[in-house]
Amino acid sequence: MTSSTLSESIDILHVSKRYAQQDGTPLAVLDDISLRVRPGEFVSVLGSSGCGKSTLLRLIAGLDTDYTGDIVVAGEKVRDTSLERGIVFQDHRLFPWLTASQNILAALRNAPLSAREKRDAVAQHIALVGLNGFEHAYPHQLSGGMAQRVAIARGLVNRPRVLLLDEPFGALDALTRGRLQNELQRIWEHERITMILVTHDVDEALYLGDRVVTMAPRPGRVKRIVDVALPRPRERNDPRFIRLRDEVLADFAEHDGEHRAPPGDDTPHGGTRIQAAPVASPPITEWRLAW
Ligand SMILES: Nc1ncnc2c1ncn2[C@@H]1O[C@H](COP(=O)(O)OP(=O)(O)OP(=O)(O)O)[C@@H](O)[C@H]1O
Ligand SMILES: [Mg+2]
Repeated sequence: MTSSTLSESIDILHVSKRYAQQDGTPLAVLDDISLRVRPGEFVSVLGSSGCGKSTLLRLIAGLDTDYTGDIVVAGEKVRDTSLERGIVFQDHRLFPWLTASQNILAALRNAPLSAREKRDAVAQHIALVGLNGFEHAYPHQLSGGMAQRVAIARGLVNRPRVLLLDEPFGALDALTRGRLQNELQRIWEHERITMILVTHDVDEALYLGDRVVTMAPRPGRVKRIVDVALPRPRERNDPRFIRLRDEVLADFAEHDGEHRAPPGDDTPHGGTRIQAAPVASPPITEWRLAW
């Protein structure tokens, strides 16, 4: 088992990725992405739907090695998946026929631990994500937020040095999302592992990240890296937070002269989202910006 104190750097060096489309022509999805993530850093990657965020995480996780450039974690080029890189997917992907505990245990299949150590690790991670009492519940008996917590526990149970999170709270209501953001921050502070969170929620990116990397689409490129030099816990109503949010939103608005950034929503944890297609009537709690 790897000590969680050994968080690691991630170097993404000139990474480009293409997919073959059905007619055989290549689709450039990522173009010359370079980024260095420091050990123990929390980096948010923010971009509209389809700009290549999940693709980038899959490359860092080692789930796809068909790209140009290099991804180096802890000084070693990523060539495959590793227990040292946990990933939480956009949908929780729990096995419906396994309980919460069994789902977490399944992630320990290849871990060099005794059965007892595995049981202890599962119990510890159930507690870490606040699911005591729900160990034996099946996914259909859990709320969406609880299922995501199981997914986060599953991503953490191998004590990875890096945790990659792909819009883990995207499908949740605003209040649950806010609560889980706080929990994730607590876990990050406790475990000190390097985290990359992909999101299209501007508030979430700024609330959690040491830095926010904004991506431009088609093909996905790094547009800007914003330092979020605000003390934690952050206040969404802090004028400095609001200023940063407006700056980031204005950045995205530059892509599309027709769709100007609407005023941010100050509802607690309401989020300010960006997405690729215009939405006719944005709900009060979720102003959307299209380009
Ligand atoms: N396996 C695949 N084969 C072909 N094209 C793909 C494949 N996976 C993704 N793409 C394309 O790559 C682009 C980026 O997809 P990706 O899933 O990385 O976007 P994303 O930024 O995560 O979007 P979202 O916010 O909606 O999750 C999209 O145009 C998508 O259609
Ligand atoms: Mg995605």
